[in-house]
Amino acid sequence: MPIIKKTKVKSIKPARLLALLFVLQSLLCLPSQAEELEVLHWWTSDGERAAALYLQQTLAEQGISWVDAAIPGGGGEGAMAVLKSRVLQGSAPAAAQIIGPDIQNWAALDFLGHFNIVALAHDWPNILHPTVDQLIQYQGQYVAVPFGVHRINGLWLNRELLAASGLPVPRHWKDFFSLARKFQDMGVIALVHGNEPWQNATLFETLVLSSGGPKLYRAVFEQLDEAAILSDPFAQALGLLSRLKGLMDADINGRTWPQSTRLLADGQAGMQIMGDWVAGELTAWQANDKVWCASVPETADDHLYSIDTMVMFKDLALSSYQAQISFAETMARTDVQLNYNRLKGSVPVRLDIQPEALSDCAQTSYRLFKANEAQGTLAPSLAHSMVATAEVEDVFVKIIHEFFQTPDRPVLQVQQELVRNLKSIRQ
Ligand code: BGC
Repeated sequence: MPIIKKTKVKSIKPARLLALLFVLQSLLCLPSQAEELEVLHWWTSDGERAAALYLQQTLAEQGISWVDAAIPGGGGEGAMAVLKSRVLQGSAPAAAQIIGPDIQNWAALDFLGHFNIVALAHDWPNILHPTVDQLIQYQGQYVAVPFGVHRINGLWLNRELLAASGLPVPRHWKDFFSLARKFQDMGVIALVHGNEPWQNATLFETLVLSSGGPKLYRAVFEQLDEAAILSDPFAQALGLLSRLKGLMDADINGRTWPQSTRLLADGQAGMQIMGDWVAGELTAWQANDKVWCASVPETADDHLYSIDTMVMFKDLALSSYQAQISFAETMARTDVQLNYNRLKGSVPVRLDIQPEALSDCAQTSYRLFKANEAQGTLAPSLAHSMVATAEVEDVFVKIIHEFFQTPDRPVLQVQQELVRNLKSIRQ
């Protein structure tokens, strides 16, 4: 009996076979000395660092040395500014965390390396979630490497405090506010938060999803539809934001999201609304059992996502190119996807993962991402650059941040200001 069945060999398409051979050749050609690959990113919290360290070690096994260029600042504002100035000075890193449709802008300017060779060899068009697959291509070329999918509409609750409150995990706002009042009576921060523009926008976008569902969400942030911005559900989202501020303590200025998560895990705060990088942080602290993972009220079936990706800058020496190719290839491996995403709090970009391999919280995210993708009801994050141009994102983030500082302002004024400002950048 032949060991390799003929049919299996036949089923590999010529383009894939060629790509496989190339990848094999690149791997054989890897230098005996570690090839350095500078990676610019904004993963600086404990959980983010643990995930990055795992990748660093995995690449080291292949003779690739990840040279870390980490720029602090959740949401990546600082990292993006540094990246732009480095590129202008002609000293781009080998790899950088660029996420969302901005990938296409960098590709259009011809800065990015291509990965069709890896993508075809490993069947990315069929193994990746279609949303991910689309996001990382430009004019038919793969120009970014996918890492994981984050769910942003997360509500995190301190388990002990929740149990002591005697109240259930809130699925509706009415129950949320009852629980918050209870936490206040118990002398803890009801809702822990940090007053940074990106954190306020992250919180607000979950409220838009909650008030108006994915349809209104997309109408507002994707289509920039005036009627949607002036609608009642959008006004309700603003109203909710101002009510939520009332549940926060006086020390929100300058508080980072991991500091909030620390207060939550330590039992000094009852709830936090944040993306599931919180889960990565809890894993790093071995504190997963202290916090319960749920959804922002009235978004239990929705998935507000951001997708982590990295691009590779082109025009490097051949050996660096080969290291980039190995990086891309390694990242999509099933074992790497599982290990990395467990540490990061996100879920794999591959479609063929057995959900049981994931934590309960991650299983929910993985299942909801697939379901919403199939129904066309996914909500791409505004605050995490998944949906709009940088100018549009800035308008929303700035105006929402200003409103958050003076939440007594009539919400209609805020709605009208948004419409005016969005109009002016479209002209
Ligand atoms: C990134 C995550 C990161 C989070 C907080 C998001 O924009 O996608 O990877 O953990 O910001 O820094």
